[in-house]
Amino acid sequence: MSTTAQETLPDFDTTLSPATYKKIRELIHQHAGIAMPEGKEALVASRLRRRLKACGISTIPEYLDFITRDSTGTELRAMIDVLTTNKTSFFREEAHFRYLTEQVVPEARSSRRLRLWSAGCSTGQEPYTTVICLAETLSDFGSWDIRILATDISDRVLAEAKAGRYPRHSLEGLDDAIVRKYFSSEADGSEPVYVAKPILRKPIRFARLNLMAQWPMKGPFDVIFCRNVMIYFDKPTQERLVNRFHALLRPGGHLLIGHSESLTGLDHPYEYIAPATYQRKS
Ligand SMILES: C[S@@+](CC[C@H](N)C(=O)[O-])C[C@H]1O[C@@H](n2cnc3c(N)ncnc32)[C@H](O)[C@@H]1O
Repeated sequence: MSTTAQETLPDFDTTLSPATYKKIRELIHQHAGIAMPEGKEALVASRLRRRLKACGISTIPEYLDFITRDSTGTELRAMIDVLTTNKTSFFREEAHFRYLTEQVVPEARSSRRLRLWSAGCSTGQEPYTTVICLAETLSDFGSWDIRILATDISDRVLAEAKAGRYPRHSLEGLDDAIVRKYFSSEADGSEPVYVAKPILRKPIRFARLNLMAQWPMKGPFDVIFCRNVMIYFDKPTQERLVNRFHALLRPGGHLLIGHSESLTGLDHPYEYIAPATYQRKS
């Protein structure tokens, strides 16, 4: 009887000893800044199962050895990818989009130029929402020079963001008129899929960027969105990051963080404006 690839695949043992879990936490903290809490062994083991299967490796310690031997860093990147949390939605924490259109846009009216960065953009809803808000607010939107850099560490979510294809349920809460104006619907099996139109895509450039690494861009940005990202980092990492953001903002530029996040207790030069909204003064 011939042996198929399927039959030769090993069984996966996703047992995670405290020592192995500690090693994984150290790796992800060192490379992605993520401070994985205690007690998430079951979640981590189930997420790593996908990588074990993809690599044809049967235990997590062997998988970690494989990562250590992989000088290309490809598998480490894949491991970080499966361990990130990517929850997002359109118009999440809507107050920030009102702030953008009511406070930031008037300041930019004379130059008609905006430079924005969605740092930790996940599957793209944050930058696409930003474009919808700007296009709905500005009667002369087409004549503005607007660029949005949208970055994430995860190749998987970036691929989805670039594709800009969303199931109906992820557009819940958006007016039908907005959906029709900014998305075209395509039949995908029995479920329609909503695809971002060129007007939404044009101002956005998606790129992979690890916030812990060197940044190639120089700024200055009018607004940096880094929402619901720093919640996964420890205080020293958050402090370093917000100070690096500060250097890339123009004087008067804004840092928007998640509403469950705060800069309280961090050493930083921002002025507090409103919940989760900070400004570089000079
Ligand atoms: C929960 S999502 C937030 C998405 C969006 N900003 C929002 O508020 O809806 C957090 C994102 O941060 C990304 N992330 C985590 N660590 C990162 C790092 N070191 N560099 C870049 N992105 C990171 C994750 O991949 C994930 O997509």
